[in-house]
Amino acid sequence: MSKPRGKTLPTTIRHLSRLTGAVLRWYGRNGRDLPWRQEKDPYRILVSEIMLQQTQVNRVLELYPRFLKRFPTFRSLANARPSSVIRAWRGMGYNNRALRLQQTARTILQEHGGALPGSVEMLQQLPGIGRYTAHALACFVFKKPLPVVDTNIVRVLSRFMPRAIPLDQSGKADVKKVWAVAGSILPRRHAYRWNQALMDLGATICTASNPQCGACPVATLCPSSFRVERRVPGRKKVEPGREGIPNRLYRGKVVEVLRNLHGGRFLSFSQLALKVKPNYTLRDKRWLHGILSGLERDGLVATKHHGLTILVSLPR
Ligand code: ADE
Repeated sequence: MSKPRGKTLPTTIRHLSRLTGAVLRWYGRNGRDLPWRQEKDPYRILVSEIMLQQTQVNRVLELYPRFLKRFPTFRSLANARPSSVIRAWRGMGYNNRALRLQQTARTILQEHGGALPGSVEMLQQLPGIGRYTAHALACFVFKKPLPVVDTNIVRVLSRFMPRAIPLDQSGKADVKKVWAVAGSILPRRHAYRWNQALMDLGATICTASNPQCGACPVATLCPSSFRVERRVPGRKKVEPGREGIPNRLYRGKVVEVLRNLHGGRFLSFSQLALKVKPNYTLRDKRWLHGILSGLERDGLVATKHHGLTILVSLPR
């Protein structure tokens, strides 16, 4: 019987080591030159990972140096006013992250003697740090041989190993399974480069739509290469919103308007309403109150009553 060639599952050690070797060599030649990859300072790596949680690399590249200039250390961030941190986060989106990052800086100073802890368990207890970010920090800062799994890596690994990581009817992988597979195939001596390589592969070649299999370093080893994916479009989650615009964007707009205030730094509720929703009417009042309460609960805005008027600002 002839040996299976090409598109077999990477079940043998030899196959797996060819795959990892090819990915690592590709990364050596094609890895993106990203500033946080030159960093050794745990603070600066932490900032990059929090930014990259929900913001595109290109945007982070633009804003990362500005934020670090403004807040170069855990201490400078911890001691700042929340309003300054929210201002420095301009352009990044999902402003809650700015406050959680500051809370993390404060926790690190108060409870960890100013040093980022190295264990995944302790990292995961910090505000805004979930499993992915804890593993990323343990690996990228402390060089621990640990896997990381983000959306891109789920896609790359499930394409490499469709039998180990089958997709369900809506095209989703079982993320727990992906973590297990990622841990079992991790080349422990090259964990840092391997994890960064998978991210780059997912971002530049093994993309969600239109993957560039012709340019892929492991095309001959990947059972999914050049196969058109049977992508069942998942039903889109309906986000709560107003007139077709998600509340998430209105929240961002409120913070943006307050961030741009000069002078008095307060707006009345109705001034703010018209800036956030130019066609605002009284029928929107309850809804906008809801948006503001949510932001206030999250610590992103402060309100105070002045007679019958509500004044809104960033927190101090
Ligand atoms: N996304 C999350 N972490 C990243 C990193 N270190 N490099 C590129 N993209 C990322």
